[in-house]
Amino acid sequence: MMDRARLALAAALLLQLTYLQAQDPFDVPGTRVSPLARVFTAGDCADGTGKSSVCSSCTAVDVCVAGASIGSASCGTATPYCNEGEVEATCSTTPSSDCGGAAAGQPATITCASLGLLPDPVNCRYYHLCLSVGTAVQSAVYECPPGYAFSVAVLACRSTLYQSCVSVTCNASNTFVYYGSSQRYYAYCAAAATTGAAPTPHIFKCPNRAVFNMNTRSCVYTCFGQGNFVNTNDLNTYYQCYLSNGRMVSQLRRCPVGPSGATTFNQTLGYCT
Ligand SMILES: *[C@@H]1O[C@H](CO)[C@@H](O)[C@H](O)[C@H]1NC(C)=O
Ligand SMILES: *[C@@H]1O[C@H](CO)[C@@H](O)[C@H](O)[C@H]1NC(C)=O
Repeated sequence: MMDRARLALAAALLLQLTYLQAQDPFDVPGTRVSPLARVFTAGDCADGTGKSSVCSSCTAVDVCVAGASIGSASCGTATPYCNEGEVEATCSTTPSSDCGGAAAGQPATITCASLGLLPDPVNCRYYHLCLSVGTAVQSAVYECPPGYAFSVAVLACRSTLYQSCVSVTCNASNTFVYYGSSQRYYAYCAAAATTGAAPTPHIFKCPNRAVFNMNTRSCVYTCFGQGNFVNTNDLNTYYQCYLSNGRMVSQLRRCPVGPSGATTFNQTLGYCT
């Protein structure tokens, strides 16, 4: 009798296991939705419309006099993006749609603060790809199929049967908050431009081997030996690990600027080239 019960239990377990295996997490890549394949075309002072300025790049204004350009002015850091106008170009905090900004109905891009994939802070079906970092670099936005949510564990879209929909809730301005249960992905809740509006979450991730520390408000890197190690968020910087009073400590250092511009860290060599 006892053996029979055991056998039945084993059979039931086996059945359940087979069922679970058939329902394995199904991870898929998303589809690129923004910015769609659009390229920036420089404005032309000589287009015959008598413009007083045009965008010569995504981040610079060309000044026009009598249908000819007399020079180009960078938009600077406060309002980095050039927006074309009917009469004059304007530097703005938001990029135009052909420079990575969102067109109507498209999800907004984010400014790339680190290399690689980042979850969207508000919509769990979106995620962002950053191939370079810098003031004017905007992400490419990808969308998961219906019934899927982005997973930072697998860096792909995973069925919502196995992946909960994570989003960031900003309760207060100028605070940090973790992205779900992750300590590597976090958001900064910036004060909204208009008073009374909810703070805006900006998503970040710590490099490999680092987690965000709420007290130090920085990514804390775990050294696995003395030496220099790649910062997977930004190849122009690296972690220097060394012993200080018998304890291993890390410092985030910037690669020097060489004669031909910024240098990048080479993990094989252990220094910047
Ligand atoms: C924000 O407020 C909500 C609702 O009161 C609460 O559930 C959540 O834990 C709060 N989040 C943080 C980061 O304090
Ligand atoms: C790093 O340096 C090695 C040795 O010089 C070289 O073979 C390799 O291509 C470099 N890697 C990168 C990413 O530049």
